[in-house]
Amino acid sequence: MATSLLFFFFFSFASLFSSSMALSCSSFSFSNNRTFVSCSSLPHLNATIHWTFDPSTSSLSLAFTAPPPSSSGWIAWAINPNSLTMIGSQALIAFNDPTIKPQTFNITGYSPIKPSPIDFPTSDLQSESSSTHLTLFAKLKLPQGLTSINQVWQVGTSVTSGLPDKHEMLPDNLQSMSKLDLTKGQRVTTATSTPTSPAPAPPSSAPSAAGSHRLLSKVRARVLFFIEFFLFFIYLF
Ligand SMILES: *[C@@H]1O[C@H](CO)[C@@H](O)[C@H](O)[C@H]1NC(C)=O
Ligand SMILES: *[C@@H]1O[C@H](CO)[C@@H](O)[C@H](O)[C@H]1NC(C)=O
Ligand SMILES: *[C@@H]1O[C@H](CO)[C@@H](O)[C@H](O)[C@H]1NC(C)=O
Repeated sequence: MATSLLFFFFFSFASLFSSSMALSCSSFSFSNNRTFVSCSSLPHLNATIHWTFDPSTSSLSLAFTAPPPSSSGWIAWAINPNSLTMIGSQALIAFNDPTIKPQTFNITGYSPIKPSPIDFPTSDLQSESSSTHLTLFAKLKLPQGLTSINQVWQVGTSVTSGLPDKHEMLPDNLQSMSKLDLTKGQRVTTATSTPTSPAPAPPSSAPSAAGSHRLLSKVRARVLFFIEFFLFFIYLF
């Protein structure tokens, strides 16, 4: 009886917390009046991506945000043109140390990695750090017609001679990749829009991968809750 009660509370709390781990898209503001059209909370490493994509010119402007695991850490965001893997990723890496500039890396193997040109013309590589997060900004020119990408992201603890050291091999580090449809994602409502003029209606498209992930975990939490509730009553009576 007491065990089932404990069980009930444990799972209820677990399901409550599991859906509130990731950084949320709202409540973000970037310096220099930088704004983006779309946002997606990524399902691993508490990361978030904001972007503006212009399909007519294939230009992508992005801000990737994640908490680096240490004060001397790094964060990376990449497009892999071929598959959802680290190898082959065309990566952008930013460092918590402001003296090290963000750079591009063509990831051809496991460590060590070194800066190199990548498949996509890249400009405006910048980084910005707060007490809790590091953000990487970049503009990429994608091949015409590419709107759905394989995105791979990562964080690491340390840097040696200006180069990122190998990341952890925890489940979160190994699962941090997903498809991203650049024409979808959560619409960002900027602080500049006045409350009286309604924000443009979000497109009637399906939610992003991260959005549906969140929805799924909410549904799962509800279902779990009812199963536990039901079991709890069976134990009681
Ligand atoms: C941001 O926008 C405001 C209002 O448009 C302007 O006064 C300010 O100079 C801008 N700041 C930067 C850094 O561009
Ligand atoms: C993500 O955030 C949660 C809650 O703040 C924290 O418990 C967890 O360790 C973080 N995960 C990573 C990989 O930083
Ligand atoms: C990245 O590395 C691969 C494998 O070595 C090579 O084929 C490709 O040309 C490189 N890309 C660029 C932009 O240098």
